[in-house]
Amino acid sequence: MKVTVIGSGYVGLIAALGFGIKNNKVICVDKNKEKIKNLKKGIPIIYEKELDNYLKKCIEDKKITFSTDIKKGIRESNIIFIAVGTPPLNNGEVDMTQVKEVIRDISKYINEYKVVVNKSTVPIGTQKYMKRMLNNEGISNEYFDVVSNPEFLREGKAFEDFFNTDRIVIGYDSEKAKGVMGKLYKNFNRKIVYTNPETAELIKYASNGFLATKISFINEIANLCDEIGGNVEDISYALGLDKRISPLFLNAGIGFGGSCFPKDTKALVKIGEKYGVDFNIIKSTINVNNKQRIIPIKKLLNYYKDISGKIISVLGLTFKPGTDDIRESPAIYIINELIKNKAKVKCYDPNVSKTIKDKYPQIEYCNNLYDTFTNSSCAIFCTEWEEFSKLDLFKLKAKMKEPLIIDGRNIFNYEHIKKAKIKYFAIGRGYI
Ligand code: UGA
Repeated sequence: MKVTVIGSGYVGLIAALGFGIKNNKVICVDKNKEKIKNLKKGIPIIYEKELDNYLKKCIEDKKITFSTDIKKGIRESNIIFIAVGTPPLNNGEVDMTQVKEVIRDISKYINEYKVVVNKSTVPIGTQKYMKRMLNNEGISNEYFDVVSNPEFLREGKAFEDFFNTDRIVIGYDSEKAKGVMGKLYKNFNRKIVYTNPETAELIKYASNGFLATKISFINEIANLCDEIGGNVEDISYALGLDKRISPLFLNAGIGFGGSCFPKDTKALVKIGEKYGVDFNIIKSTINVNNKQRIIPIKKLLNYYKDISGKIISVLGLTFKPGTDDIRESPAIYIINELIKNKAKVKCYDPNVSKTIKDKYPQIEYCNNLYDTFTNSSCAIFCTEWEEFSKLDLFKLKAKMKEPLIIDGRNIFNYEHIKKAKIKYFAIGRGYI
């Protein structure tokens, strides 16, 4: 099928390549000339496993073209995916500027029937709003249908999730559009949930809200474990054995970050407010997370009382392993607190580029993992990068001034810590 994807961000680029790999003819449009220039040359513009391979394959097999020409993108395909950014506004609502711009472009260039598909995470009612907008721009209903098709992929596992998604959700209000979408997804062989557009839009928020709640729930259990001498990992394991609960997203730690859970939980509260529904659970999920991400600071101050002038190492800056994304990363909140408490911060991340250096010029960046521990009074681990779990703890200890580890992701085997005689605090491992 002929598919255009507008927006080459995370969701857009993965979807464009994913549909290319599934044998469609794809045009990926972005107004950012630099991005398109690089993509045309096969240069990945974001960090994602397998991206370079899929990009190369789609270009070689002529399954994808990259363009800044939105007119061509709209005219040459019969399915137009909108995957532009929907960042949060300061008040927690969603900034729809880019979606509106695309709708205006569609109304300008539309020449025959198109299915316009929304992949961005957007407020409930957006499908109807988009229809109204197109009508108001003079486009009558026989020229288009608007479908909601939210995306559930995770950064770092984007292609795996795109191709093997647990479900494809399609919110439609026309049989013609349903048929087109069903045909597009036929060779995915995944479960498809057909529903009305409002429900599809809400499924996305409900899904992220629920997963975030699962994390905050287990984090509160972990905090209790720390007080009673419990073991949160055993609790997660036992909970996960109950099929009604599922073992996934029950890893206790220093909370969730990234561009999705923090934004979507806030947006869900706002959506609830708009319709007179008080989202107490989601509000608590957010509150728990706000406190959880600075728990290492609480533990650190509890131990040292005063950390001014002490060198503190922060390991892992991204919001999770397998990405270079530091948006809403708990590590950033921890660094801010350390700076507030006048500590000297030394950082290391296997994947974060120099760009963060401009944001925090006062902190030291180490290119070598072991250099991060030199003269340090505490090493705070914020992300469970694989190389951290393989650290030589004796070497680490030898470099530190005072051997203290705060393990924000329960990375280390306690037997190894014990052997190396390192003071150790973790999350929900109160039995230690
Ligand atoms: C999340 C959802 O998992 C995707 O399904 C969704 O498509 C995406 O948001 C989105 O809305 O675009 P993502 O933000 O890439 O994906 O990352 P996750 O793997 O879900 O992790 C989010 C945060 O939760 C990370 O900071 C991670 O460290 C934390 N987390 C996750 C935990 O603290 N414990 C867990 O057990 C799992």
